[in-house]
Amino acid sequence: MRGLFVTVEGVEGSGKTTVNQLLAEWLRQKNFTVTVTAEPGSTPLGKEIRNLLANFSERTAWAEAFLFLADRAEHATRVIRPSLERGEIVLCDRFTDSTIAYQAFGLGLPLETLIALNRIATNALVPDLTLLLDVEPELGLQRVKNKTVFEERDLNFHHRVRWGYLWLAKREPERIKIINASQTLEIVVSEAKRLIEEALQKWL
Ligand code: TMP
Repeated sequence: MRGLFVTVEGVEGSGKTTVNQLLAEWLRQKNFTVTVTAEPGSTPLGKEIRNLLANFSERTAWAEAFLFLADRAEHATRVIRPSLERGEIVLCDRFTDSTIAYQAFGLGLPLETLIALNRIATNALVPDLTLLLDVEPELGLQRVKNKTVFEERDLNFHHRVRWGYLWLAKREPERIKIINASQTLEIVVSEAKRLIEEALQKWL
């Protein structure tokens, strides 16, 4: 049986990484085999791409988009698909929706083209469930300690990213579930668990 593919998305400081780790522990206690992974940077080539993204802030929007897409092509083929084929649960911190939110809504690249490129890069791999940790960018950015190229973009950029995510959630309400991430970690994680339990019931 094919595994279950869950992605976690959100603006900077939405708490994705922590939530992902806690969900993985919880699922492992239930005896599921879980692969926890993230974009960008979860393959050998992806690590180099992540360094390029961190070190070359002077870049065109398209160069940036293609770097994320190259990272995703490697990641989908070498990490995500093999785990799903082994029947595992994959918890992935960022995936295709990040490119739509950041490069289409944030940077203004054409949406439909990026949707098509995402499909090409992943060979049409779509998450079974996406948890969107929604938080006001002001609050999210306050939570981030070590600022990178991305967090240093202006606040309007981050607001556009958030609208992009909310637009995606409206477009695909069956797949993308919004969690209010300005709540306590405990509440966020318990809502995430409830949504995963629903997905597990459909899957098992
Ligand atoms: P991270 O902070 O979650 O590790 O992600 C690194 C940055 O990369 C984050 O600011 C979001 C950005 N990003 C994009 O702009 N487009 C993408 O497709 C992905 C995967 C990440």
